[in-house]
Amino acid sequence: MIISSPQSMQKKALKWLKAGKSVGFVPTMGALHEGHLSLVRASKRDNDITVVSIFVNPAQFGPTEDYGSYPRSLKMDLSALKLFSVDAVFIPDVSDIYPEDFQTTVNVGKLSQPMCGKSRPVFFGGVARVVLKLFNLVMPTRAYFGLKDYQQFLIIKQLIKDLNLPVIIVPRAIIREKDGLALSSRNAYLSKEERKIAPRVYAALELGKEAAKSGKNPKQVQRIIEDHLKKNFVIDYVTVADPLTLASLKTFRGKALLAVAVWLGKTRLIDNLLVNQDTH
Ligand code: PAF
Repeated sequence: MIISSPQSMQKKALKWLKAGKSVGFVPTMGALHEGHLSLVRASKRDNDITVVSIFVNPAQFGPTEDYGSYPRSLKMDLSALKLFSVDAVFIPDVSDIYPEDFQTTVNVGKLSQPMCGKSRPVFFGGVARVVLKLFNLVMPTRAYFGLKDYQQFLIIKQLIKDLNLPVIIVPRAIIREKDGLALSSRNAYLSKEERKIAPRVYAALELGKEAAKSGKNPKQVQRIIEDHLKKNFVIDYVTVADPLTLASLKTFRGKALLAVAVWLGKTRLIDNLLVNQDTH
């Protein structure tokens, strides 16, 4: 079932709520790949009802970013979702989500500042705003987010906690191509040549992980990753951070997040790896 109006979506959600059904929600911007489908699979497994939203959210793109060219493949997305028999696909119009007099902003403070927040200053505000609105329309029991967007996951988790939203957030592992490239809708931008180079992002993270395990400190690990990346990419950031606060680490203790964003031509790639310094 395709639902396009926010009012109809909320009406359906209230009906499911009244009937005591659990609702799993997978928010997406479409151009679905196996990463998204793994979230749908998890939702189908955990809930009575599964809702997928497809909405390319203009509020999370800066004025010079790729809102206009963001991959859109609605027909293919709907065929993929048909195979999963999801209960509803919510595909609202921009004007229904953001009517002319829309004026509310939602910002999650500190977590939005480092990493992607530095080079994409409007991104997380736009994400938090639309996700909160979608939660109010779909009223999910559980919402599924991929860990490739690790910072986004933490921000939504904080939003849920701060505002006491009655939603359980379910993180799911990054899905990778055989050569290690993390799946992303933006991989569609890569030329054939760039596609061959792109897996070196993950290779750099793996090198960083090895270095951490062999006793190097966070600064040294960061440098090793940077040295590897700068041969092929323009680096936006490389961080070795606390996986709960995203603050840069000075020493390793327990879990650490290795995260990077790089440019390969006109494509921005992000990826991350969690390392556990207690278990090596
Ligand atoms: O991760 C995404 O695809 C988007 O940021 C989301 C969560 C659907 C909000 O637009």
